[in-house]
Amino acid sequence: MAELELRALTKSFGDTVTLHPTSLQVRTGEFVTVLGPSGCGKSTLLRILMGIMEASGGEIHLAGKRIDAHPPEKRDIAMVFQSYALFPHMSVRKNLAFGLRMRKIAKDEQMRRIQHALEICNLEAYVDRMPRQLSGGQQQRVALARAIVMQPSLLLFDEPLSNLDAKLRDSLRHDLIALHRKTGATSLYVTHDQAEAMAMSDRIVVMNAGRVVEIGTPVELYRNPAHAFTASFLGQTNLIPVKASGDSCGLPWGGQAQLDRAAQGDMMVSLRPENVQLTETANGVGEVTSVSFMGAQAHYIVRIGGRDLHAARSGAEAILDTGARVDVAPIGALRLLQTDGMEAKPA
Ligand SMILES: Nc1ncnc2c1ncn2[C@@H]1O[C@H](COP(=O)(O)OP(=O)(O)OP(=O)(O)O)[C@@H](O)[C@H]1O
Ligand SMILES: [Mg+2]
Repeated sequence: MAELELRALTKSFGDTVTLHPTSLQVRTGEFVTVLGPSGCGKSTLLRILMGIMEASGGEIHLAGKRIDAHPPEKRDIAMVFQSYALFPHMSVRKNLAFGLRMRKIAKDEQMRRIQHALEICNLEAYVDRMPRQLSGGQQQRVALARAIVMQPSLLLFDEPLSNLDAKLRDSLRHDLIALHRKTGATSLYVTHDQAEAMAMSDRIVVMNAGRVVEIGTPVELYRNPAHAFTASFLGQTNLIPVKASGDSCGLPWGGQAQLDRAAQGDMMVSLRPENVQLTETANGVGEVTSVSFMGAQAHYIVRIGGRDLHAARSGAEAILDTGARVDVAPIGALRLLQTDGMEAKPA
């Protein structure tokens, strides 16, 4: 069942269209991430859902009810912001109780919900502290707990981990996944960090310049992207222009390769670095110009046919030297991609 449904939601500021008609369904209990570059309209989308910004057109349905005319407090949606947005003059307990008091939830029910949220967010030790006496990660867990106690139909997250250092971000990311498993709350999570999106999501909505480019599971979108934007934004890839003829194509540096389906004429394909086979040979058409040994993997840049090709091999294999001559062959069929809208810049 769709818990949340957006129907042709749009937003314009004057003549500038920030959100083109956007339709989307989030199922009950699903964790969906909206992934896109800075300025593509992610926060705008969340603000409209939350009710703190008005849409220019379209409909929002939550749990079977149309809610886009409702004020924020009537929407049964809670949001966790990048900046935590805790009340600075209230203790952790009071921060958690605030929304419940506003809703006139009975005292014993308030206590029960707060205790539960403190436990699952690992905050029991901090309940009487003020926000300024907490680290960034602890403050963000309070913000999360404050959203959870409301038991909303929908939880919104606007880049909640981006103010934290890399290690804390990683640990809170795991906490969030575990928490989602425990609460089963329907969640829409916004980020521009593709690793975060891949690690956390049931499905990812890829956005660019105010439009949904593609929607799928992390595995589908990584392995079988339909669009060049998705292929290059989700992980690293080489986008290569080829001349297609049936189910094979001519490569820019010479030779033929297999396509994943038949096409004719000038096309764009994706070739992931891990699908580039490098064979060291004295007359190789490519030259290794950069070597980065990363431990588990070794990354190479190969100059070939006037372009730089990224390749990755297992770090356990022999490491090639800069200047080595190599032959290059794709492993498996090349993925044909759509390229419409690739030139679009954020509004
Ligand atoms: N109140 C406003 N008036 C005019 N333009 C706005 C307003 N709010 C947002 N915009 C514009 O809408 C576009 C989308 O902004 P938005 O904040 O949704 O981006 P975002 O995807 O959340 O980016 P980031 O990852 O940097 O947070 C931007 O170009 C922004 O300048
Ligand atoms: Mg934003």
